[in-house]
Amino acid sequence: MSATIIDGNNLSTQVREEIAQRAAALKDKGITPCLAVILVGEDPASAVYVRNKVTACEKAGMRSIHDDYAPDVDPAVVFKRIDELNADPTVHGILVQLPLPKHFDSEAVLEAIAPEKDVDGFHAENVGALMQGNPRFIPCTPYGVMKMLESAKVPLKGAEVVIVGRSNIVGKPMAMLLLAQSCTVTICHSQSKDLAFHTRRADILVAAVGRAKMITGDMIKPGATVIDVGINRTPEGKLCGDVDFETAKEVADAITPVPGGVGPMTITMLLANTLEAAERGQRGA
Ligand code: GUN
Repeated sequence: MSATIIDGNNLSTQVREEIAQRAAALKDKGITPCLAVILVGEDPASAVYVRNKVTACEKAGMRSIHDDYAPDVDPAVVFKRIDELNADPTVHGILVQLPLPKHFDSEAVLEAIAPEKDVDGFHAENVGALMQGNPRFIPCTPYGVMKMLESAKVPLKGAEVVIVGRSNIVGKPMAMLLLAQSCTVTICHSQSKDLAFHTRRADILVAAVGRAKMITGDMIKPGATVIDVGINRTPEGKLCGDVDFETAKEVADAITPVPGGVGPMTITMLLANTLEAAERGQRGA
């Protein structure tokens, strides 16, 4: 039997409608939520992500600022711009698209963003708050995954979760969020000895490694929920995830597609975090 599809486009549309209504209510009070996005370099995938983020903001009735820098820009120029955005009371969220060129100290850039405007949730202070179970901003991709699990009514308490990928952007924060919901969490990575041994135990399998179709149906427990965070291209240029959808859907109970799964939810939760930052500013929180 084929798995139920957890449709990220559909859920995004619902959540973005609620966000647009809240943004409109804030606008009535004279505050337009505003996200500033900084892109350094010419990575085509990053350029597409940034464009999608900016467009989504505008569609939700929010303001956006989009600053592009050449790949060889002096990091001091970017630090100065972050300082300006930190000091601007009309800017509620600041995002620096990753990865940055090699001559940048990415950690220092993330630390330069004011924690109360860090809508990615990547500042060390916000990472610590998440780890302590008291998040200020939840990183957008894991936040989107949690919303998808909630909408699909996937039981979390006591569930065996296996996350493949240990990045700061997805794997690690994902583990913290699921742990907070009383899941038993295993994080696998490129040095894990027998990956399939782990993945076959998972009631919920989260694939976030960035390798096309590496999780195949035989690596999945029958009846599992499979969340595919990967966005890769096949040799023919087609978008695909980290999961081999065709074989996985025959074994899983529920699965997210690529495209149209986690991707749209990431942007939706970025809008949610930006709105939240603006609402907190209005409350003086
Ligand atoms: N690069 C890939 N994913 C992300 C993300 O969620 N935020 C930022 N800033 N850069 C990314």
